[in-house]
Amino acid sequence: MIYRKIVAQMLIAFLLFSACQNTEHAPKSANDNEFEHGAVVTAHPLASDVGVQILKDGGNAIDAAIAVQFALAVVYPNAGNIGGGGFMVYRGEDGAVDALDYREKAPAKSDKDMYLDSAGNAITELSLDGQLAAGVPGTVAGMVAAHKKYGSLEWKTLVAPAIKLAKEGFAITKMQADEFNNHQEKFAKLNPQGAAIIRQEVWKEGDVFKQEELANTLELVAEKGRDGFYKGATADYIVEEMSRGNGIMTKSDLANYQAVWRKPVEGEYRNHRIISMPPPSSGGAALIALLQSVEPFPLQRWGFQSDSAVRVIVEAERRVYADRATHMGDPDFHRVPLKELMDDQRNKARMKAIDFNKATPSNDVSASVFEGYESEETTHYCIVDKAGNAVSMTTTLNGSYGAGVWVKGAGFLLNNEMDDFSVKPGVPNLYGLVGGKANAIAPNKRMLSSMTPTIVEKDNKLFMVVGTPGGSTIITSVFQTITNVIDYGMDAQKSVSASRFHHQWLPDQIDVEDNAINANTRNSLKLSGYEIEKRGNIGRVENIIVLPNGKLQTGADPRGDDVARGY
Ligand code: GLY
Repeated sequence: MIYRKIVAQMLIAFLLFSACQNTEHAPKSANDNEFEHGAVVTAHPLASDVGVQILKDGGNAIDAAIAVQFALAVVYPNAGNIGGGGFMVYRGEDGAVDALDYREKAPAKSDKDMYLDSAGNAITELSLDGQLAAGVPGTVAGMVAAHKKYGSLEWKTLVAPAIKLAKEGFAITKMQADEFNNHQEKFAKLNPQGAAIIRQEVWKEGDVFKQEELANTLELVAEKGRDGFYKGATADYIVEEMSRGNGIMTKSDLANYQAVWRKPVEGEYRNHRIISMPPPSSGGAALIALLQSVEPFPLQRWGFQSDSAVRVIVEAERRVYADRATHMGDPDFHRVPLKELMDDQRNKARMKAIDFNKATPSNDVSASVFEGYESEETTHYCIVDKAGNAVSMTTTLNGSYGAGVWVKGAGFLLNNEMDDFSVKPGVPNLYGLVGGKANAIAPNKRMLSSMTPTIVEKDNKLFMVVGTPGGSTIITSVFQTITNVIDYGMDAQKSVSASRFHHQWLPDQIDVEDNAINANTRNSLKLSGYEIEKRGNIGRVENIIVLPNGKLQTGADPRGDDVARGY
């Protein structure tokens, strides 16, 4: 009897202990996340539906990615877009890899001091809110370029689902209703004339959101391709919108915009090949540098978010982000020392100096000598088709609803990507990242990004497709998801649900989700001089893992409305 009582007490104690150690956001669905032929994971259920329907209709991963990009512009207006930009990493079934840069560009009339007052101080609102904050959008040019090189279905077929959603409307989710209500004031102030979400009544879950003007613009894009956006009526609307505020984008900025195909960056991590986005995103090179830095350490033996693992990861992040701030910018304007940044020996050698009893102050870490904190409203999606072609795509307006400027007549939001430049060298932007000359504003230049759409191979075969929104935390979230799978053996859903933490050199602090890093470890880190800051959710990671039996196992981040679909 006594024995049973002791066992029962031990069981209760164990359950309580386990509850306290809960390191995950509860996944929304159990075990219905594996698919035989194709899979699509996005931030919105309707966008996932659109993508999977394209796959079922015989489209390839690129076709589905284009349709999802346009669908997200309708159903996920805080980050999905045609008025912003993004990056795509692609791996064909034959193993060939490619990267598409459809990042926004600074208008030709931009100037390095355009967000400074007469005393030389940064006026942050100017790079964040209103017409002057917008870079020249790249999304439509990007989709046209992707379609031309790899698409298989008719262009119009890919834009059609988005037109239907915009015309007929769709029922908003609870999370969206809350966001729409929270942004009424911002839009009333910035853009009362155009904002489709402004209304008298409070938005509720299930309310239908229709966007007639956006439907018309998408129809032009469907009919005329890039000319439906960069010329004619849409270009007129954009330039008119500039004149309603202090905008500087011109028709020739729009007509001249080109998306660029780039060579992905590549690295190795514990016998896996990492394929990711090169500059103007810092994401791929920083991710590879982080993985190289932690590779000598036995993360698996130490355990998930164990004291030693957290120390090593934070010290690696501190060093890699110091390099990011100094050396990274648009490669068309600045020589980015990619080889050095991803030099395996250099990254490993730097980690030899770390002290397991004491935090290295960030002031003591400067960028290596060989020779921006973005907003967190971006969105990522992953697609694998039945042939095994894979797309990892991250797209953004930068801040939530971008510059807050809804182009009147054309029905879409403009980005505030100009804030991703270093507005003034050494001065942190609104979100805490600093930058220098490499990422200074210049006419027609692309602003540095952290977006990290990534594909991982194992034994020369497709293994994982992964990415996330989250501004400067994108790189560390993708990094943690990869180590969650490779080091800690988590499945796709667990790897994205698991709690996360982040360090970015400056400010010198570890940002932690509420349930990340247990209390004992936090205390011991504090005693060693680490500053710990609790914060809300970090990222919304999506991934797809190819299982040994060929099935596609999906992970959709439970921090949002994210959904995996497949067949
Ligand atoms: N605007 C977010 C990023 O490009 O990193």
